[in-house]
Amino acid sequence: MNMPFSQACENNRGPILALLQPLLAKSTSVLEIGSGTGQHAVWFAKHLPHVSWQTSDLKENHIGINQWLNAYPAQNLSPPIELDLTRPDWPKGQYDCVYSANTAHIMPWEAVVNLFAELRQHLPFSGLFCLYGPMAYQGVIEPESNVQFDQQLRQRAAHQGIRDFYDLNRLAGDAGLILLDDHAMPANNRLLVWQKTEQ
Ligand SMILES: C[S@@+](CC[C@H](N)C(=O)[O-])C[C@H]1O[C@@H](n2cnc3c(N)ncnc32)[C@H](O)[C@@H]1O
Repeated sequence: MNMPFSQACENNRGPILALLQPLLAKSTSVLEIGSGTGQHAVWFAKHLPHVSWQTSDLKENHIGINQWLNAYPAQNLSPPIELDLTRPDWPKGQYDCVYSANTAHIMPWEAVVNLFAELRQHLPFSGLFCLYGPMAYQGVIEPESNVQFDQQLRQRAAHQGIRDFYDLNRLAGDAGLILLDDHAMPANNRLLVWQKTEQ
């Protein structure tokens, strides 16, 4: 069976890594939500050897993720945990960073709400949450290609759509997180970084 492949992952892994490297200099453990193909996991684990990288996703993606992990094994890379944020069952391990790319606009809003509620409970003091993807700002989506992408998402599934930074940041505040950075990324994406400031 062919390994799943995402060209976007190949394109964005370098710019994301360049930001994660200094951010995670003192981190030891990352939980990745929605690992997708597994491409980001093998790349980041290789380039962040001091970090234990835990993959996770819906069960349907585990075969593909395991194919990538088997093709590029690393001691700091763990096979996927089943994690569906519509029915939160947070993994038992301790993670000082949670990372997720291109998931907030795919999962239902209720799952995004659950995600921040889980962060409030499980992310340790000073822990990080990094969220990559396209964002709206006060209801405005830019540029036109992102507007079209949002329309495609909503036509495909009513629960999908580009999320608004301010809605996400409000959930983050409720979860005891403060925004550290909002980075512009290639292809009209953002990398949002929050830090837990409450126990
Ligand atoms: C567009 S893919 C992004 C995959 C990968 N992170 C990337 O950047 O290529 C969206 C991911 O979100 C995951 N996902 C969708 N609904 C989810 C949910 N309820 N809980 C957790 N993950 C979910 C999908 O299984 C998929 O892996």
